[in-house]
Amino acid sequence: MKRRKQYRFTQNAIAQNVIENGKPLYDTIKGQWHQLKFNNNNPIVLELACGKGEYTVGLAQEYPDFNFIGVDIKGDRIARGSQIALQQELHNVAFLRADIQYLREFFAPGEVSEIWVTFPDPQPRDKQEKHRLTHPRFLDLYAEILQPGGLFHLKTDNAPFFDYSLETLPAFGFTDLIYTHHLYDSPLNDIHHGIKTKYEAMFFAQGFSINYLQCKNKGTLAR
Ligand SMILES: C[S@@+](CC[C@H](N)C(=O)[O-])C[C@H]1O[C@@H](n2cnc3c(N)ncnc32)[C@H](O)[C@@H]1O
Repeated sequence: MKRRKQYRFTQNAIAQNVIENGKPLYDTIKGQWHQLKFNNNNPIVLELACGKGEYTVGLAQEYPDFNFIGVDIKGDRIARGSQIALQQELHNVAFLRADIQYLREFFAPGEVSEIWVTFPDPQPRDKQEKHRLTHPRFLDLYAEILQPGGLFHLKTDNAPFFDYSLETLPAFGFTDLIYTHHLYDSPLNDIHHGIKTKYEAMFFAQGFSINYLQCKNKGTLAR
């Protein structure tokens, strides 16, 4: 294993804002993020497939009254965002190293108020369909952990994957869909907060247009 990667794993092992297998809270955090991690009752926003966690950190700077959790399976990537959040003393940030297909083990029904999915692997081949993060088996998870009416955002450079998601989300019952194939030239541009992830910057530089959609979990918020 490369030394730098090993170093980042060591950083994660001692970072207070990283929850991963073998560390405290990994087995007990479900349904208890407010009490055990954030010590507040603020809404929880997830960034799935977060990589270095640009949205997790960027939104946490902008919205101190929300809690942000980046989720990714790759520890060396989340270490980057974790270290930035620690340096900036962002107490409203956490990173969870886990496979997204097991989200139910970490979040109780309705525990999450908003989800961002940023530049996930498009899994283009037919036989990879069930691995797409907008396949119904993942939407079933999101619908469960999101509160009724909770927002779901997707950004991707990949047009076929985006078109696939435009079909699966409404078919699964997500409502109030708005979208654009050209985010930066769209009236929706403000919605993405001007944050560019690593992959976004890379694909944009290669000439790909950035697709964005937003929709809501079915149901309405209890008042
Ligand atoms: C193309 S990268 C995008 C990273 C970042 N969002 C960005 O835009 O720069 C896709 C990320 O998804 C993560 N990933 C893919 N499948 C996953 C899964 N099932 N559970 C957790 N993370 C996953 C990978 O580890 C990788 O960091």
